[in-house]
Amino acid sequence: MRVAVVGTGYVGLVTGTCFAETGNKVVCVDIDEAKVAKLAAGQITIYEPGLEKLFLRNIKEERLRFTSDLASVVDDVEIIFLALPTPPGADGAADLQFVLGVANQLGKLLTSYKVIVNKSTVPVGTADKVRAAIDQNYRGEFDVVSNPEFLREGVAVDDFMKPDRVVIGTSSERAKKIMSELYAPFVRQGNPILFMDERSSELTKYAANSFLAMKISFMNEIAQLCERMGADVDMVRRGIGSDERIGKRFLFSGIGYGGSCFPKDVQALIKSADAISYDFQILKAVEKVNTNQKLHLVEKIKEHYRGDLKGKHFALWGLAFKPNTDDIREAPALVIIESLLSEGATITAYDPEAISAVQAQIGIKINYAKNQYQALKGADALLIATEWSEFRTPDFERIGVLLKSKVIFDGRNLFEVLKLQSIGYKYISIGRPQ
Ligand SMILES: NC(=O)c1ccc[n+]([C@@H]2O[C@H](COP(=O)([O-])OP(=O)(O)OC[C@H]3O[C@@H](n4cnc5c(N)ncnc54)[C@H](O)[C@@H]3O)[C@@H](O)[C@H]2O)c1
Repeated sequence: MRVAVVGTGYVGLVTGTCFAETGNKVVCVDIDEAKVAKLAAGQITIYEPGLEKLFLRNIKEERLRFTSDLASVVDDVEIIFLALPTPPGADGAADLQFVLGVANQLGKLLTSYKVIVNKSTVPVGTADKVRAAIDQNYRGEFDVVSNPEFLREGVAVDDFMKPDRVVIGTSSERAKKIMSELYAPFVRQGNPILFMDERSSELTKYAANSFLAMKISFMNEIAQLCERMGADVDMVRRGIGSDERIGKRFLFSGIGYGGSCFPKDVQALIKSADAISYDFQILKAVEKVNTNQKLHLVEKIKEHYRGDLKGKHFALWGLAFKPNTDDIREAPALVIIESLLSEGATITAYDPEAISAVQAQIGIKINYAKNQYQALKGADALLIATEWSEFRTPDFERIGVLLKSKVIFDGRNLFEVLKLQSIGYKYISIGRPQ
């Protein structure tokens, strides 16, 4: 099939590449001309494991190309995906200007039947708004479909190629048939394509992310209890996770959720509920707990140094909001950095992939190391903010030599408490007995 993907960020690039990988002819469109030039020259613009190989292969096979000229591609394709940003507006509600802006453009460009697919995470009712925006200028046939994306950064290619489910919101039989054909190679193992109405499909995405965020905030509150009651959150996690009704995943306590999705989607669903005078109490608590949790590690650091961080120097391992990505949007590490700097501390940070993104955002406010050990030299303590696998079994002897004192504040509970204590570390983690 011939597919256009408008918006070539984390979702758009993975979507376009994976559709090309299954034999479709894909053109990715982005207004960022520098990004398009790079992609067209075969340079990948995001770090996502496994993506580059598919990206290069499909460019070579001429199934994947890039342009900034939307007008030049519309006539050529059958399906147009919108993988555009939906950031929080000033009031926290999803800002639809990018999605509706492109819908408006499409209204002026369409000349024949197309399926317009919303892959962005958008509030209930957006399919209607997209339809209305196109309708203003185009009187021919078209369908607007909701097809939310559930990929996780860090394992996005796998998630896209082998999705747990594909959700498609449409009442059009014609669009249903086209979408089924497009997704057939991805559901060969029997994972379902769930057809539903557009509104349910739009809400499914917010419900999924909000539920996962709720699990994280719940466990972070349990961790707070553990710290006050002398229990061990790792034991509690195992104790409840082995119950099939609860499940093992997403039960790790830490320094809160971040990323480009959970914070904004939780906020947007609260706002959508507010707009219809429904007080979504659980979600408000989820958000509040998360905001506090991001600073929980800093509280522990301050407690350790009796409130005085002036002149203290910290090594920070991990900047990305989670491992295997270079995405730093809403990363807890950034909140920790700002807070420590405001207390008069200095920081040298290391991250395997996210240093350039952080440099672009906060520049020389902190120092950057070339590897995890270089960051430690002369630091008063090591802080861990992202659970990259290379941080999991480090050389503790070397760490001990490089640090001024053997102190680790671990926001991701990477190590055994007793082991670290037995080799002379003051090891402070989340929700576990000291
Ligand atoms: N990142 C994720 O893990 C993830 C997962 C599922 C869903 N989503 C949702 O997918 C959507 C996109 O997210 P993302 O992380 O890929 O965003 P992103 O910011 O990485 O990418 C968006 C791209 O759209 C481009 N763009 C903006 N306006 C444009 C226009 N008028 N025409 C063409 N291109 C334009 C930008 O230049 C950018 O490259 C959001 O709604 C997000 O909530 C994201």
